[in-house]
Amino acid sequence: MQLVIRESSTAVGLWAARYVQQRIQRFAPTRDRPFVLGLPTGGTPVEMYRHLVEFHQQGELSFAHVVTFNLDEYVGLSATHPQSYHAYMNRHLFDHVDIPRDRTHLLNGNAANIEEECAQYEAAIQSYGGIELLIGGVGIDGHIAFNEPGSSLRSRTRIKALTQSTKQANARFFGDDVEQVPHHALTMGVGTIMDANEVMIMAQGSKKSLAVHHAIEGAVNHLWTISALQLHPHSTIICDEEATLELKVKTVRYFKTLMQT
Ligand code: GLP
Repeated sequence: MQLVIRESSTAVGLWAARYVQQRIQRFAPTRDRPFVLGLPTGGTPVEMYRHLVEFHQQGELSFAHVVTFNLDEYVGLSATHPQSYHAYMNRHLFDHVDIPRDRTHLLNGNAANIEEECAQYEAAIQSYGGIELLIGGVGIDGHIAFNEPGSSLRSRTRIKALTQSTKQANARFFGDDVEQVPHHALTMGVGTIMDANEVMIMAQGSKKSLAVHHAIEGAVNHLWTISALQLHPHSTIICDEEATLELKVKTVRYFKTLMQT
């Protein structure tokens, strides 16, 4: 696992956007060989999306041959609800770039048959040969996508009940009213995430520092689902200085030296 540390959260967003741009361009996608991207929501990636839109508007990046799969979606919100992840993606990325809409994929949290919806999502990912680069954030309790503590580290796309702590953390998007936060979500499983060729997790702020500690210095443990990345052959955590507060000085020095070399 790589750990990349930047001085601020804005620098994290820019670094992540540049990285995505380079990966897409090096892949040189075509219509028949698209670049498959796994995408997150939440507060953390907003700055990255802002830069990706900017690169596109400056003519430096095209999404014409990119296929996207979002990591998760709430159950029970309509796609047009401002806090649905469908609306979030339109607002922060899809409405501003040249991605064909039929190549963007989000789980339908209102599907009549949830099991079928999740199975079809896995099949759709497979139909493109899997995800090339999956980008995620991390919850305060170390969850990736909505794989809450105790999730099987081999789990696939499915419905999950959200913990009280996650609902409280996300209440800020629902007028600070925890009762408005949906109780369930559909989410890629840890196993689905681990199948991506490359995984990049973004973490910002001291609130995420315990999760970063468990990811890097802790043992692989289903209570901190981010720790599963230790078993991934190509994973990176990109974080700001604040998010390293719970790491040992020795660990931080080691990864900073690695970055320089
Ligand atoms: C939610 C999302 C996660 C996200 C996490 C952190 O629970 N399902 O995918 O990584 O929140 O969000 P934020 O970036 O807002 O801290």
